[in-house]
Amino acid sequence: TTTAASHHPARNATRDSAFIKACRREPVPHTPVWFMRQAGRSLPEYLKVREGIAMLDSCMMPELVTEITLQPVRRHKVDAAIYFSDIVVPLKAIGIDLDIKPGVGPVVAEPIRTRADLARLRDLTPEDVPYVTEAIGMLTAELGATPLIGFAGAPFTLASYLVEGGPSRSHERTKAMMYGDPQLWADLVDRLAEITGAFLKVQIEAGASAVQLFDSWVGALAPADYRRSVLPASAKVFDAVAPYDVPRIHFGVGTGELLGLMGEAGADVVGVDWRVPLDEAARRVGPGKALQGNLDPAVLFAPTPAVEAKTREVLDAAAGLEGHVFNLGHGVMPSMDPDALTRLVGYVHEQTAR
Ligand code: CP3
Repeated sequence: TTTAASHHPARNATRDSAFIKACRREPVPHTPVWFMRQAGRSLPEYLKVREGIAMLDSCMMPELVTEITLQPVRRHKVDAAIYFSDIVVPLKAIGIDLDIKPGVGPVVAEPIRTRADLARLRDLTPEDVPYVTEAIGMLTAELGATPLIGFAGAPFTLASYLVEGGPSRSHERTKAMMYGDPQLWADLVDRLAEITGAFLKVQIEAGASAVQLFDSWVGALAPADYRRSVLPASAKVFDAVAPYDVPRIHFGVGTGELLGLMGEAGADVVGVDWRVPLDEAARRVGPGKALQGNLDPAVLFAPTPAVEAKTREVLDAAAGLEGHVFNLGHGVMPSMDPDALTRLVGYVHEQTAR
């Protein structure tokens, strides 16, 4: 069904692509492939254009964003592009003082820890991110029939950076708030859901064909805590974009025990890391959803025959799925050989051609 909200000429042009069809669990000419963190990272052409430009500054330069987003599509022939940005961009856009430190990640000057701090998380409007609308307009014109994936960080993962003040292994202050002041926590993730929903809408209105919600660090939680303290906020994000009828992908690392709940939150496609085989993941997620994944990224450091053998295992486990989007179980690493990624795309296409 086509609703007024779902109609966009750029999106219309990508309707028959393998990626969109796999997300919708329709028959495909070959299994579509893209890589989380495919833009940036190891590509020499990326390092060249980024020279002397800070990460967050680069995210606000539409021409540069367009070039970086297109680089992996040109080079690897992946089936989808992912918008070059970062999960903290919408927070920066509403005035949170933060930076991305090379080799470290996002660092927040004044962490959010009290009820009074919540007032700093104001609503996001399209006027806060004009460079996103501009870049996506330029990008979709260049991409034609290749879909553009928009994305955002999920409330839990964003909350972790905001509460800890930076990257964390144990998420101790975040969990202390979640367990110790459940009402403050609920209000915090609800605010973040509003901001995230608004940010994804901007990307869809500009022409993105699908969206991925990254809850990268939510694997740190037990299912009961996920259901009580995270699922309502993530569901609110998915509900906000539901009227557009674009495929919604939901991904986290170490989320084997949460896959069913992450689907329940409102995803059309559930991303799986390398720890759970896709046939088992399908049993955990249940019918009516496509899966995305799940080659161990570290396999790319092995010789080509080993990469192909491990890829074959992923494809075999995916054989009975309703829909499969091939991806790594997590992001591309900076030290990876770009040629190994290009070969992998070709191998999946060739092995799955029907
Ligand atoms: O394909 C793409 O690369 C699209 C762009 C993209 C970036 N970040 C660019 C980036 C995407 C999709 C992200 C998402 C993101 N950012 C996530 C979720 C994805 C995941 O891997 O689970 C998270 C947790 C972040 C937060 C973040 N930003 C981290 C952990 C880092 C890495 C720090 C480091 O240098 O090791 C960043 C920085 C960042 N985001 C870089 C890029 C290209 C590197 C910064 C640089 O090159 O200066």
